[in-house]
Amino acid sequence: MSIRVGVIGTGNIGTTHARNLQHAVSGAQVTAVYDFDTQRALDLGAEIGAVAYPSFEAVVDSPEVDAVVIASPDDFHADQTIAALRNGKWVLCEKPLAPTVAEAQRVMDAEIAVGHRRIQMGFMRRFDPGYLQLKAELDSGAAGEALLLHCVHRNPQAPYVQDSAVILSNSVVHEIDINRWLLGEEYADVTIVAGRSTPKVGTGVLDPMLVLFTTESGVLVEVESFTNCQYGYEVRCEVVATEGTIDMGSGSFIESARGGRRGSSIAGIWTDRFGDAYLRQMQSWIDGIEENEVNGPTTWDGYAAAVTAQAAVRALTSRTTEPIRLPARPALYA
Ligand SMILES: NC(=O)c1ccc[n+]([C@@H]2O[C@H](COP(=O)([O-])OP(=O)(O)OC[C@H]3O[C@@H](n4cnc5c(N)ncnc54)[C@H](O)[C@@H]3O)[C@@H](O)[C@H]2O)c1
Repeated sequence: MSIRVGVIGTGNIGTTHARNLQHAVSGAQVTAVYDFDTQRALDLGAEIGAVAYPSFEAVVDSPEVDAVVIASPDDFHADQTIAALRNGKWVLCEKPLAPTVAEAQRVMDAEIAVGHRRIQMGFMRRFDPGYLQLKAELDSGAAGEALLLHCVHRNPQAPYVQDSAVILSNSVVHEIDINRWLLGEEYADVTIVAGRSTPKVGTGVLDPMLVLFTTESGVLVEVESFTNCQYGYEVRCEVVATEGTIDMGSGSFIESARGGRRGSSIAGIWTDRFGDAYLRQMQSWIDGIEENEVNGPTTWDGYAAAVTAQAAVRALTSRTTEPIRLPARPALYA
């Protein structure tokens, strides 16, 4: 029997997830959609053959729904995820789990009260073939021990992001998660370094900025975040290790030569670069539900990312190195 899914928030990513679930993921069927913008939900419902519900409460309460995707704006993730949990639904919550540690803690407490893992975080890079190969190579030990990571995260434009703190909690949160996953350890501290910003952003917004993390074992993780680079969407990661380096490249598989030039194309937006990852993430989520487990990043990963992002936000104003302190990992996430 198919897992019946409700999609809450049918904007960019909600629509991508709903189409994937309906047309490409096996074992799933989208039965419900909801968006604050009623017409948007009606349009997507008509396109994929799902019912547009009048409220998110109606979706999480529905006997026609086993699991929900939370793809609304960041500020709604915590309340909607908790409501879904309390109604016995499985959840795939888009990143971030919540914009603040206090809200992320509320979600984790609610899941601990349920007593079972029910939430998967939408950190889809963990399903990207490039990152998976990078991790496999690092874990093989062939390059030795990691010393330094150079990471780049560039978006062509992000007119909706006009706040350096939101860049950290909403965008850099991808690097926060993927690098702790790659290295298998937590961060110890964070520092922000920034110079001149692009004129595309408002006064005081740091774009680009360098976010420098040190992990518990002392690996330096350097992240360049640039949300208005204009030329395309690009995510890069190079590991410098004791015996060599491992570079994920730009995510382009082919290089072509024409008219005296050689080169490769650059993704336009994130769906071009991570299309495969979104799909694999969803398949893994559905397969996990069928086995009664969470098959991907957990609420603890969402919480750890929130603690790390909040320390980075503190470093924005203090302009010093801020410590990152995580509490002991609750037994549910051991
Ligand atoms: N994993 C990723 O790579 C990735 C990529 C993009 C977005 N996201 C996350 O997904 C979320 C949505 O981002 P987006 O780019 O799709 O934004 P979007 O603005 O395109 O879509 C958000 C939608 O939510 C609707 N909405 C507003 N308030 C709502 C509410 N209370 N309940 C339900 N729907 C509501 C809006 O009408 C809109 O249609 C964000 O949290 C973002 O961080 C993740």
